[in-house]
Amino acid sequence: MQTTLTPSAAEAAAILNEGGVVAFPTETVYGLGASICHPEAINQIFRAKGRPSDNPLIVHIANVEQLEDVVTEITPDAARLIECFFPGPLTLVLRKHPRVPETVTAGLQTVGIRCPSNAVAREFLRLAHYPVAAPSANRSGLPSATNWEAVYQDLNGKIDAVLCGTPSAIGLESTIVDCSCSTPLLLRAGSITLEQLKEVVPEITVATKGDQASAPKSPGLKYPHYAPKATIILYHPGEVPVTTAVFASIGITEPPTGVALYKQCTTLDEYGHELFSFFRRCDTEGIETIYCELPSNEGLGRAIRDRLMRAAGHV
Ligand code: TXA
Ligand code: MG
Repeated sequence: MQTTLTPSAAEAAAILNEGGVVAFPTETVYGLGASICHPEAINQIFRAKGRPSDNPLIVHIANVEQLEDVVTEITPDAARLIECFFPGPLTLVLRKHPRVPETVTAGLQTVGIRCPSNAVAREFLRLAHYPVAAPSANRSGLPSATNWEAVYQDLNGKIDAVLCGTPSAIGLESTIVDCSCSTPLLLRAGSITLEQLKEVVPEITVATKGDQASAPKSPGLKYPHYAPKATIILYHPGEVPVTTAVFASIGITEPPTGVALYKQCTTLDEYGHELFSFFRRCDTEGIETIYCELPSNEGLGRAIRDRLMRAAGHV
Protein backbone atom coordinates (compact mmCIF):
# COMPACT_ATOMS: atom_id res chain seq x y z
CA MET A 1 0.00 0.00 0.00
CA GLN A 2 1.25 3.47 -0.91
CA THR A 3 1.15 5.88 2.06
CA THR A 4 0.24 9.45 1.02
CA LEU A 5 1.84 12.30 2.99
CA THR A 6 -0.32 15.41 2.95
CA PRO A 7 -0.51 18.70 4.85
CA SER A 8 -4.18 19.06 3.79
CA ALA A 9 -6.95 18.19 6.27
CA ALA A 10 -9.42 18.15 3.36
CA GLU A 11 -7.38 15.60 1.39
CA ALA A 12 -6.85 13.45 4.50
CA ALA A 13 -10.58 13.55 5.37
CA ALA A 14 -11.51 12.58 1.79
CA ILE A 15 -9.26 9.49 2.06
CA LEU A 16 -10.83 8.66 5.45
CA ASN A 17 -14.38 9.09 4.13
CA GLU A 18 -13.63 6.61 1.33
CA GLY A 19 -12.68 3.97 3.90
CA GLY A 20 -8.98 4.76 4.30
CA VAL A 21 -6.81 4.62 7.42
CA VAL A 22 -5.29 8.04 8.10
CA ALA A 23 -2.86 9.22 10.78
CA PHE A 24 -3.49 12.73 12.08
CA PRO A 25 -1.93 15.14 14.58
CA THR A 26 -3.47 15.87 17.98
CA GLU A 27 -2.19 17.91 20.95
CA THR A 28 -1.34 14.68 22.85
CA VAL A 29 0.20 12.28 20.29
CA TYR A 30 -0.56 11.42 16.65
CA GLY A 31 -3.65 9.22 16.17
CA LEU A 32 -4.34 6.51 13.56
CA GLY A 33 -7.91 7.10 12.42
CA ALA A 34 -10.67 5.22 10.63
CA SER A 35 -14.34 6.10 10.27
CA ILE A 36 -16.45 4.09 12.75
CA CYS A 37 -18.70 3.28 9.76
CA HIS A 38 -15.97 1.48 7.79
CA PRO A 39 -15.43 -1.93 9.46
CA GLU A 40 -12.63 -2.96 7.08
CA ALA A 41 -10.72 0.24 7.91
CA ILE A 42 -11.15 -0.48 11.64
CA ASN A 43 -9.65 -3.95 11.10
CA GLN A 44 -6.78 -2.38 9.16
CA ILE A 45 -5.90 -0.22 12.20
CA PHE A 46 -5.37 -3.36 14.29
CA ARG A 47 -3.31 -5.02 11.52
CA ALA A 48 -1.15 -1.96 10.80
CA LYS A 49 -0.31 -1.48 14.48
CA GLY A 50 0.01 -5.18 15.32
CA ARG A 51 -2.52 -4.43 18.07
CA PRO A 52 -4.31 -7.18 20.02
CA SER A 53 -8.00 -7.21 19.05
CA ASP A 54 -9.15 -7.08 22.71
CA ASN A 55 -7.76 -3.55 23.10
CA PRO A 56 -10.51 -0.97 22.38
CA LEU A 57 -10.07 2.21 20.33
CA ILE A 58 -10.95 5.74 21.45
CA VAL A 59 -13.61 7.50 19.35
CA HIS A 60 -12.75 11.09 18.36
CA ILE A 61 -15.41 13.73 17.80
CA ALA A 62 -15.24 17.20 16.24
CA ASN A 63 -17.43 18.92 18.85
CA VAL A 64 -19.45 18.30 22.00
CA GLU A 65 -22.73 18.11 20.01
CA GLN A 66 -21.49 14.87 18.39
CA LEU A 67 -21.46 13.16 21.81
CA GLU A 68 -25.09 12.12 21.53
CA ASP A 69 -24.24 10.13 18.38
CA VAL A 70 -21.80 7.88 20.24
CA VAL A 71 -22.98 7.50 23.87
CA THR A 72 -26.36 6.71 25.44
CA GLU A 73 -25.95 8.70 28.64
CA ILE A 74 -23.87 11.61 29.89
CA THR A 75 -23.61 11.28 33.67
CA PRO A 76 -23.54 14.47 35.82
CA ASP A 77 -19.81 13.94 36.57
CA ALA A 78 -19.08 13.48 32.87
CA ALA A 79 -21.05 16.64 32.07
CA ARG A 80 -18.90 18.64 34.53
CA LEU A 81 -15.66 17.21 33.09
CA ILE A 82 -16.82 17.97 29.55
CA GLU A 83 -17.66 21.53 30.54
CA CYS A 84 -14.17 22.04 31.99
CA PHE A 85 -11.91 20.03 29.69
CA PHE A 86 -13.48 19.47 26.24
CA PRO A 87 -12.02 20.06 23.74
CA GLY A 88 -8.68 18.91 25.15
CA PRO A 89 -6.46 16.06 26.31
CA LEU A 90 -9.17 14.13 28.21
CA THR A 91 -10.88 10.84 27.25
CA LEU A 92 -14.13 9.91 28.99
CA VAL A 93 -15.41 6.33 29.13
CA LEU A 94 -19.22 6.24 28.88
CA ARG A 95 -21.91 3.75 27.88
CA LYS A 96 -21.72 3.30 24.13
CA HIS A 97 -24.46 4.02 21.60
CA PRO A 98 -25.49 0.92 19.55
CA ARG A 99 -24.18 2.79 16.50
CA VAL A 100 -20.58 2.34 17.74
CA PRO A 101 -19.47 -1.10 16.51
CA GLU A 102 -18.07 -3.63 18.97
CA THR A 103 -14.97 -4.00 16.81
CA VAL A 104 -14.15 -0.45 17.94
CA THR A 105 -14.82 -1.12 21.64
CA ALA A 106 -13.39 -4.68 21.58
CA GLY A 107 -16.73 -6.07 22.72
CA LEU A 108 -17.16 -3.62 25.64
CA GLN A 109 -20.47 -1.82 26.15
CA THR A 110 -18.56 1.35 26.98
CA VAL A 111 -16.62 3.66 24.68
CA GLY A 112 -13.76 6.11 25.23
CA ILE A 113 -14.60 9.54 23.78
CA ARG A 114 -12.18 12.33 23.06
CA CYS A 115 -12.61 15.76 21.46
CA PRO A 116 -9.08 17.03 20.64
CA SER A 117 -8.23 20.74 20.77
CA ASN A 118 -5.52 20.72 18.07
CA ALA A 119 -6.78 22.94 15.22
CA VAL A 120 -5.73 20.58 12.40
CA ALA A 121 -7.34 17.62 14.20
CA ARG A 122 -10.56 19.58 14.61
CA GLU A 123 -10.65 20.53 10.94
CA PHE A 124 -10.00 16.89 9.94
CA LEU A 125 -12.73 15.62 12.32
CA ARG A 126 -15.16 18.30 11.14
CA LEU A 127 -14.70 17.14 7.54
CA ALA A 128 -15.05 13.45 8.49
CA HIS A 129 -18.59 12.21 7.79
CA TYR A 130 -18.68 10.12 10.99
CA PRO A 131 -16.77 9.99 14.31
CA VAL A 132 -13.23 8.65 14.00
CA ALA A 133 -11.85 5.67 15.94
CA ALA A 134 -8.15 6.19 16.62
CA PRO A 135 -5.47 4.66 18.81
CA SER A 136 -2.01 6.22 18.97
CA ALA A 137 -0.27 6.06 15.58
CA ASN A 138 2.66 3.80 16.48
CA ARG A 139 3.46 0.09 16.16
CA SER A 140 1.97 -1.65 19.20
CA GLY A 141 4.34 -1.62 22.18
CA LEU A 142 6.62 1.17 20.86
CA PRO A 143 6.72 4.76 22.13
CA SER A 144 3.82 6.84 20.82
CA ALA A 145 4.53 9.05 17.81
CA THR A 146 4.70 12.77 18.61
CA ASN A 147 5.56 13.95 15.07
CA TRP A 148 4.61 12.79 11.59
CA GLU A 149 8.09 11.48 10.82
CA ALA A 150 7.75 8.95 13.68
CA VAL A 151 4.36 7.84 12.33
CA TYR A 152 5.88 7.37 8.88
CA GLN A 153 8.81 5.40 10.29
CA ASP A 154 6.45 2.91 12.02
CA LEU A 155 3.58 2.68 9.53
CA ASN A 156 4.79 3.55 6.02
CA GLY A 157 3.21 1.10 3.56
CA LYS A 158 0.66 -0.10 6.13
CA ILE A 159 -1.74 2.87 6.14
CA ASP A 160 -3.34 5.06 3.47
CA ALA A 161 -2.18 8.52 4.54
CA VAL A 162 -0.50 10.72 7.11
CA LEU A 163 -1.88 14.21 7.72
CA CYS A 164 1.40 15.99 8.40
CA GLY A 165 0.93 18.65 11.08
CA THR A 166 3.27 20.11 13.67
CA PRO A 167 4.76 18.03 16.53
CA SER A 168 2.27 17.27 19.33
CA ALA A 169 2.20 20.12 21.85
CA ILE A 170 1.90 17.85 24.92
CA GLY A 171 3.66 14.63 23.87
CA LEU A 172 1.86 12.26 26.29
CA GLU A 173 -1.46 10.49 25.65
CA SER A 174 -4.73 11.83 27.07
CA THR A 175 -5.92 11.43 30.64
CA ILE A 176 -8.62 8.69 30.71
CA VAL A 177 -11.50 8.84 33.22
CA ASP A 178 -14.12 6.08 33.41
CA CYS A 179 -17.50 7.73 34.06
CA SER A 180 -19.53 4.58 33.33
CA CYS A 181 -19.26 3.41 36.97
CA SER A 182 -20.79 5.00 40.10
CA THR A 183 -17.57 6.78 41.12
CA PRO A 184 -15.34 8.24 38.37
CA LEU A 185 -12.12 6.28 38.04
CA LEU A 186 -8.80 7.59 36.69
CA LEU A 187 -7.65 4.87 34.27
CA ARG A 188 -4.65 6.62 32.69
CA ALA A 189 -2.80 9.69 33.98
CA GLY A 190 -2.14 12.47 31.48
CA SER A 191 -1.58 16.20 31.25
CA ILE A 192 -4.95 16.94 32.86
CA THR A 193 -3.78 16.03 36.33
CA LEU A 194 -5.50 14.17 39.16
CA GLU A 195 -5.38 17.41 41.17
CA GLN A 196 -7.25 19.27 38.37
CA LEU A 197 -9.81 16.47 38.06
CA LYS A 198 -10.42 16.49 41.84
CA GLU A 199 -11.39 20.16 41.69
CA VAL A 200 -14.25 19.15 39.39
CA VAL A 201 -15.13 15.65 40.69
CA PRO A 202 -13.72 15.41 44.23
CA GLU A 203 -14.76 11.76 44.66
CA ILE A 204 -12.63 10.49 41.74
CA THR A 205 -10.46 7.46 42.59
CA VAL A 206 -7.35 6.08 40.94
CA ALA A 207 -7.52 2.63 39.32
CA THR A 208 -5.25 0.31 41.30
CA LYS A 209 -3.14 -2.56 40.02
CA GLY A 210 -5.72 -4.87 41.65
CA ASP A 211 -8.52 -3.34 39.55
CA GLN A 212 -6.44 -3.93 36.46
CA ALA A 213 -5.55 -7.52 37.36
CA SER A 214 -9.03 -8.75 38.29
CA ALA A 215 -11.00 -7.09 35.52
CA PRO A 216 -8.85 -4.82 33.39
CA LYS A 217 -10.78 -1.56 33.29
CA SER A 218 -8.64 -0.30 30.46
CA PRO A 219 -7.65 -3.39 28.51
CA GLY A 220 -4.62 -1.75 26.90
CA LEU A 221 -2.95 -1.16 30.24
CA LYS A 222 -2.08 -4.82 30.67
CA TYR A 223 0.20 -4.79 27.60
CA PRO A 224 3.83 -3.65 27.46
CA HIS A 225 3.99 -0.10 26.20
CA TYR A 226 6.12 2.85 25.17
CA ALA A 227 9.32 0.80 25.14
CA PRO A 228 12.39 1.74 23.12
CA LYS A 229 14.94 -0.98 22.21
CA ALA A 230 17.24 0.22 24.98
CA THR A 231 17.03 -0.96 28.58
CA ILE A 232 15.57 1.74 30.78
CA ILE A 233 16.96 2.29 34.26
CA LEU A 234 15.04 4.60 36.54
CA TYR A 235 16.61 6.68 39.28
CA HIS A 236 15.26 9.07 41.87
CA PRO A 237 15.74 12.86 41.87
CA GLY A 238 19.13 13.84 43.26
CA GLU A 239 20.78 10.45 42.61
CA VAL A 240 23.39 10.50 39.86
CA PRO A 241 23.81 7.18 38.05
CA VAL A 242 27.40 5.93 38.16
CA THR A 243 27.88 5.00 34.52
CA THR A 244 25.41 6.12 31.95
CA ALA A 245 24.96 5.62 28.27
CA VAL A 246 22.18 8.13 28.10
CA PHE A 247 20.75 10.29 30.74
CA ALA A 248 17.44 12.05 31.01
CA SER A 249 17.03 14.39 33.91
CA ILE A 250 14.88 17.17 35.10
CA GLY A 251 16.93 18.05 38.14
CA ILE A 252 20.62 17.67 37.37
CA THR A 253 22.32 20.21 35.16
CA GLU A 254 25.67 18.52 34.41
CA PRO A 255 25.82 15.18 32.56
CA PRO A 256 28.02 12.56 34.25
CA THR A 257 31.04 11.33 32.24
CA GLY A 258 30.52 8.57 29.69
CA VAL A 259 27.23 9.92 28.43
CA ALA A 260 26.55 9.42 24.73
CA LEU A 261 23.39 11.49 24.52
CA TYR A 262 22.06 13.82 27.11
CA LYS A 263 18.71 15.48 27.54
CA GLN A 264 18.14 17.78 30.41
CA CYS A 265 14.65 19.11 30.90
CA THR A 266 14.00 22.06 33.18
CA THR A 267 10.28 21.46 33.70
CA LEU A 268 7.89 18.50 33.86
CA ASP A 269 6.08 19.90 30.81
CA GLU A 270 9.31 19.72 28.85
CA TYR A 271 10.06 16.21 30.17
CA GLY A 272 6.64 14.98 29.04
CA HIS A 273 6.99 16.71 25.70
CA GLU A 274 10.44 15.25 24.96
CA LEU A 275 10.11 11.74 26.42
CA PHE A 276 8.87 9.70 23.46
CA SER A 277 10.85 11.56 20.80
CA PHE A 278 13.98 11.09 22.95
CA PHE A 279 13.31 7.34 23.21
CA ARG A 280 12.97 7.14 19.43
CA ARG A 281 16.15 9.15 18.90
CA CYS A 282 18.02 6.76 21.23
CA ASP A 283 16.81 3.82 19.10
CA THR A 284 17.97 5.51 15.90
CA GLU A 285 21.41 6.08 17.41
CA GLY A 286 21.69 2.50 18.71
CA ILE A 287 21.78 3.45 22.40
CA GLU A 288 21.61 0.41 24.70
CA THR A 289 20.83 1.91 28.10
CA ILE A 290 18.78 4.94 29.01
CA TYR A 291 18.79 6.35 32.51
CA CYS A 292 15.71 8.37 33.37
CA GLU A 293 14.87 10.35 36.45
CA LEU A 294 11.58 9.23 38.01
CA PRO A 295 9.62 12.33 39.04
CA SER A 296 7.31 12.38 42.06
CA ASN A 297 3.64 11.44 41.66
CA GLU A 298 2.40 15.03 41.80
CA GLY A 299 0.85 16.93 38.90
CA LEU A 300 2.19 15.91 35.50
CA GLY A 301 4.79 13.78 37.33
CA ARG A 302 2.10 11.07 37.72
CA ALA A 303 1.73 10.66 33.93
CA ILE A 304 5.47 10.74 33.26
CA ARG A 305 6.10 8.17 36.02
CA ASP A 306 3.41 5.92 34.57
CA ARG A 307 4.98 5.98 31.08
CA LEU A 308 8.50 5.50 32.45
CA MET A 309 7.49 2.53 34.63
CA ARG A 310 5.73 0.84 31.73
CA ALA A 311 8.60 1.59 29.33
CA ALA A 312 10.96 0.02 31.89
CA GLY A 313 8.77 -3.10 31.99
CA HIS A 314 7.11 -2.61 35.38
CA VAL A 315 3.62 -3.33 34.02
O1 TXA B 1 -4.21 10.98 23.57
C1 TXA B 1 -4.75 9.92 23.25
O2 TXA B 1 -5.58 9.36 23.97
C2 TXA B 1 -4.38 9.31 21.88
C3 TXA B 1 -4.88 10.26 20.80
C4 TXA B 1 -4.65 9.73 19.42
O3 TXA B 1 -6.23 10.57 21.02
N1 TXA B 1 -4.93 8.01 21.76
C5 TXA B 1 -4.45 6.94 22.45
O4 TXA B 1 -5.07 5.73 22.10
O5 TXA B 1 -3.57 7.01 23.27
P1 TXA B 1 -4.50 4.31 22.57
O6 TXA B 1 -5.36 3.34 21.87
O7 TXA B 1 -3.05 4.23 22.32
O8 TXA B 1 -4.80 4.26 24.09
C6 TXA B 1 -6.14 4.22 24.52
C7 TXA B 1 -6.30 3.47 25.80
C8 TXA B 1 -6.01 1.98 25.69
O9 TXA B 1 -5.25 1.58 26.83
C9 TXA B 1 -7.39 1.35 25.71
O10 TXA B 1 -7.38 0.06 26.30
C10 TXA B 1 -8.19 2.34 26.54
O11 TXA B 1 -7.68 3.59 26.16
N2 TXA B 1 -9.63 2.32 26.22
C11 TXA B 1 -10.23 2.57 25.05
N3 TXA B 1 -11.56 2.39 25.15
C12 TXA B 1 -11.83 2.03 26.42
C13 TXA B 1 -13.00 1.67 27.15
N4 TXA B 1 -14.19 1.66 26.59
N5 TXA B 1 -12.88 1.35 28.46
C14 TXA B 1 -11.66 1.37 29.04
N6 TXA B 1 -10.51 1.68 28.41
C15 TXA B 1 -10.57 1.99 27.12
MG1 MG C 1 -1.17 3.68 22.40
